[in-house]
Amino acid sequence: MELPGLAFAVWMFICLCGPLDGYPNGRIREVCSSMMPHHGSSPQLSPEHIITVNGTEFKPGDKIEVNLSGPDFEGFFIQARDAEHLDSPAVGSFILADQRLSQLLTCGHTKVQYSNSAVSHTSKAKKKYVKVYWIAPGNAPKHVQFLATVVKKYKTFWVKIPGAIVSQPNAPSPTTPLHTTSETVSTSHPTSYLTKPFNASGCGNTKFCIRNPSSCDPESASCFFLSFRQEKSSVLIEMSGPGEGYLAFALSHDQWMGGDDAYLCVNEDHQVSVSTAYLKGRSPPVLDSENALEDVSWRLADGVLQCSFRRNIHLTAYKGRFNLDASYYIFLADGEARGLIYKHNRQPLITSGMYNITGLPEDIGGSRSPQLIKAHGALMFVAWITTVSIGVIVARFFKPVWSHSFLFGKEMWFQVHRMLMLTTVMLTSISFVLPFVYRGGWSKQAGFHPYLGCAVMALAIFQPLMAGFRPSPHAPRRQLFNWFHWSTGTTARILAVVTMFLGMDLPALDLPDPWDTYTMIGFVAWHVGIDVLLEIHSYCLIRKVIEDDRIQILQSLTSAEAEGHLFKQIVLAIYICGNIVFLIAFLAAINQI
Ligand SMILES: *[C@@H]1O[C@H](CO)[C@@H](O)[C@H](O)[C@H]1NC(C)=O
Ligand SMILES: *[C@@H]1O[C@H](CO)[C@@H](O)[C@H](O)[C@H]1NC(C)=O
Ligand SMILES: *[C@@H]1O[C@H](CO)[C@@H](O)[C@H](O)[C@H]1NC(C)=O
Ligand SMILES: *[C@@H]1O[C@H](CO)[C@@H](O)[C@H](O)[C@H]1NC(C)=O
Repeated sequence: MELPGLAFAVWMFICLCGPLDGYPNGRIREVCSSMMPHHGSSPQLSPEHIITVNGTEFKPGDKIEVNLSGPDFEGFFIQARDAEHLDSPAVGSFILADQRLSQLLTCGHTKVQYSNSAVSHTSKAKKKYVKVYWIAPGNAPKHVQFLATVVKKYKTFWVKIPGAIVSQPNAPSPTTPLHTTSETVSTSHPTSYLTKPFNASGCGNTKFCIRNPSSCDPESASCFFLSFRQEKSSVLIEMSGPGEGYLAFALSHDQWMGGDDAYLCVNEDHQVSVSTAYLKGRSPPVLDSENALEDVSWRLADGVLQCSFRRNIHLTAYKGRFNLDASYYIFLADGEARGLIYKHNRQPLITSGMYNITGLPEDIGGSRSPQLIKAHGALMFVAWITTVSIGVIVARFFKPVWSHSFLFGKEMWFQVHRMLMLTTVMLTSISFVLPFVYRGGWSKQAGFHPYLGCAVMALAIFQPLMAGFRPSPHAPRRQLFNWFHWSTGTTARILAVVTMFLGMDLPALDLPDPWDTYTMIGFVAWHVGIDVLLEIHSYCLIRKVIEDDRIQILQSLTSAEAEGHLFKQIVLAIYICGNIVFLIAFLAAINQI
C-alpha cells in the first residue's frame, strides 16, 4: 500500500532528484521542453555552432542527414520542432550515425510518436561535429526546424540554437516569420512578471483558496498560498510561498500518490519555470514537454516565490491533465531546487477531503502532518514530559512526605507513582503503534528516531514487569532492585528525550524551528533544575537533623520534617505548573501544524 505523505515526498525526491551535477552522461529528459541545462549559469548569446542538413524538402518517412558542427564542444541536445511553433514538442524521430558519440532520448510523453525525438551526447569527450539522421513523421508540420543546445564547457553553453529548416513540398510560406537567430527564439521562461504579492481578499468568495498555516497572509514569507479563480471556461491559478526552491501542487483522486496531475513552479537560478507532470505510481515521472498552461507569470521578491497561470477547465488533448470541474484531494509541496537536485524538506500538505475547485469557493487551511503522526507526537509528549516526570519526582522525594497517607490500602506516594507510571506505559504503547499504522511498516526515512523509540518502548514494558517482581522491602536483594529500577527508568527517560528531539524535526511532524529545540532544552533545564533543588533540600535536611542530633532529636526531626514537607509540596506544585506549560506549548504547536 502506498501511503500519502511519504509517497508524495518520495516522488518529489525521485522525480526531481534526477541526474546530479548536470548531465555528464547526456540523459537529460527533464529538459525536453526548455532545452536548458541546469548548470547554474545563463546561456550565451551569439552561437558559434551551426546545424546543417543535406536537403531543404522532406516527405513523410524521408531520412534527412543533420550535422551539428563548430568549435570543440562537450555536450549537445538536438530536437526537431514545428518551425512556426518553436515552443511545441519535438517532432519526428532520430537514428544515430555514431553510437559512441550520441544517444537517443524520448521526450515528453511516452507516446510512440515522441520516442527517439531527441539526441544527446554520451560523454563529455570533446567533439567538433556530430551527425544524426532525422526521420520525418507522417503527421509532420509544414516546416520543421532543428534546434540544438550546445555545451562548450560546463558554464558555457548556448540554448536552442536555431538550425536549418526543412519544408514539405509545396508547403505555403509560413504565416509567421521563422526564427533564424538565437535572440528571437524564446525559451520556455515565462515572459510576464507579476508586480505585487497575491492577496487573500477574494478567498472563499470569488476564489477557492488553500492556505498553510490557515488564514495566513500570502504577502508574508512563511505563508503557502494556492488559489483557483474560475473565469468562464478557464481557471486562473495562483501559487506562492517561501521561495528558495520549488512549489508544487497536485490534484489526486485519493490521498495516496500515483495517477496525479501535478504543477510545479521551480526557481532555477533566479528564473522561475512552470511545468506540469503526470505522476504514474512510483516510477519517476518526467516533466511534460508541453504544458498547456497560458498566461504564465512569476515574481521572486522578499523571499517569496509567486507564480500564476491559467488553464482550461477541460484539457482533453493533453494526457494527464484532469478536468477541473470534479472533486480532488489537493497536495501542496515545497522544497529546495539546486540545479536539478530538488529535495523536499517538509511533508506536503494534503487536504482533508475532496474539493471541487470550480464549485463553491472555499477558503481552507490544511495540515502538513497526518493525524496519526500528530496523535503519536501528542501522546508521547504527555507521557514523557508530564506523567513520567511527575511520577519520578513523587517517588524520589515524597516518600517521607506522604508516608502516613494511604490510598486504596497502599501508601499514597506509591499509588501516585504507580498510577502515573502505568499511564506513561499505556500512552507510550498506544502512541508507539500509530506510526507503524500510518507507514504500513517500518519507516526507513526517519533516521535514528524509530530505533531509539523501540528501545524506549522495550524499557517502558520491562520496567513495570521488573517492578511487579520486586523483592520485599527488607529483603537483601531489595537494594539491587532499587538500583536497577532507578537506572532502567533513567535510561528510558534520557532516551525518550533524545528520541523526542529527533522526532520533532522529522518531515512528518516538523515543529517550528528553532522554537522546538529551545523549548525542549527549556523543559530539560526546568526539570533538572527542580530535581537538583529538591536534592539539595533533602541533603540540607539530613545535615540539619544530624547537627541537631545531640540536642533534641525528636523535636528537631518533626519540625525539620514539617518544614521540609511544606517546601517540597510548594516546589511540586510549581513544578507541575511549569511542566504543564511546556506540555501545552508543545501540544499547541502540534495543533498548529
Ligand atoms: C540525405 O541523406 C540521407 C541519408 O544519407 C539520404 O537518404 C537522403 O537521400 C539525402 N537527401 C538528399 C536530398 O540528398
Ligand atoms: C559536418 O560539418 C562539418 C563542418 O562543416 C564538416 O567538417 C563535417 O565533415 C560534416 N560532417 C558530415 C558527416 O557531413
Ligand atoms: C488583490 O489582487 C487582485 C488581483 O489578483 C487585485 O485586483 C486586487 O485589487 C487586490 N486587492 C487588494 C486589496 O490588494
Ligand atoms: C463542480 O462544480 C461545477 C461548477 O459548479 C459543477 O458543474 C460540477 O458538476 C461540480 N462537480 C462535482 C463533482 O461536484
